[in-house]
Amino acid sequence: MGKVYALVNQKGGVGKTTSAVNLAALLAASGKRTLLLDFDPLGNATSGCGVSQARGCAEILAGRGVLSEAACATVVTGLDVVPPGKDLATWMHDHPDLALSRAEQLIDEARSKYDLVFVDAAPGATAFHIALAARADRILVPCPPEPFPEQSLQALAEIVRRSSANTMWVAFRTLVNGTAPPEGSPQIGSLAIHWIGPPVPRDPWVPEAQRQGKPLYLVAPSARATHAYVAIAKEVTKHEGTATG
Ligand SMILES: Nc1ncnc2c1ncn2[C@@H]1O[C@H](COP(=O)(O)OP(=O)(O)OP(=O)(O)O)[C@@H](O)[C@H]1O
Ligand SMILES: [Mg+2]
Repeated sequence: MGKVYALVNQKGGVGKTTSAVNLAALLAASGKRTLLLDFDPLGNATSGCGVSQARGCAEILAGRGVLSEAACATVVTGLDVVPPGKDLATWMHDHPDLALSRAEQLIDEARSKYDLVFVDAAPGATAFHIALAARADRILVPCPPEPFPEQSLQALAEIVRRSSANTMWVAFRTLVNGTAPPEGSPQIGSLAIHWIGPPVPRDPWVPEAQRQGKPLYLVAPSARATHAYVAIAKEVTKHEGTATG
C-alpha cells in the first residue's frame, strides 16, 4: 500500500502547493509511482504540473468519473495529477457527508494504486482537513518564519487532536529570506512537531517554473530552492517517530 502525504496549513500562501508539486515531482523522478490529488478548487497544483484538464476530483466525488480516467500524466514520468474538476468547492459544500466519504474512498483507492499520494488542499481547518489528517500517513506543514504563519499553527490543534495516532506531523520552513535562525520544535496544541530539511529560500526560479507549468528541478536544477526541496523530499520519505501517539 502506498503512503499518503498531505500538505496542510490553515494559513494561505505559505507554500503548500509549491511544496506539493515539487516534492511529488522529485519523488516521482526518483522512481516512486506518485499521484498528486489536487483538492484545491483553484487548481494551482494542476497547472504547476503543466496539466489543464477540467475533470477531476469533483467528478469522481460526484460519481461521474473514476480515478483511472481523471489521473493525467505530467511532464514528469511517474507523476500523475488529478485536477480539482468543475465546481469542487460548491459540490463539497452542498454534499458535505458524501464529499467526505467519497474523498476518503478516493484516497484509499489512490493509495492502492500508487507508491506515494500527495494531497494538496486549500488553506483551512475544515471537516475535510480533519478527515484528511485521519487518513494520511504524514501531514506536512510548510511554515514561513514569520509571526502570523507561526501563530496560525495553533488553528491546527483540533486537527492534531482528531488525527489518527498513526499520522506523523512534520514541518519545514518555506519562503525564507536570508538565513533562518535556529529554532526548537514548533508546538501545535499538545504536539511538538519536528522540523525537517533545510529551509526553502524565497527564490525567483519558483514562480518562473510555475509560469512554465513545470516542477522546479526541470527548469532550474541548480537553484537554491531546488536543492532545499531535494533534501526535504529525502527526509519526507524516511522521517519516523513523530506520530501523535
Ligand atoms: N520558495 C519560493 N520562492 C519564491 N516564491 C515562492 C516560493 N514558494 C512559494 N512561492 C510563491 O508564494 C506564493 C504562495 O505559494 P503557494 O501557492 O505554494 O502557497 P499555498 O500555501 O499553496 O497558497 P494557498 O493557501 O493560496 O493555496 C505563490 O505565488 C508562489 O509562487
Ligand atoms: Mg495552494
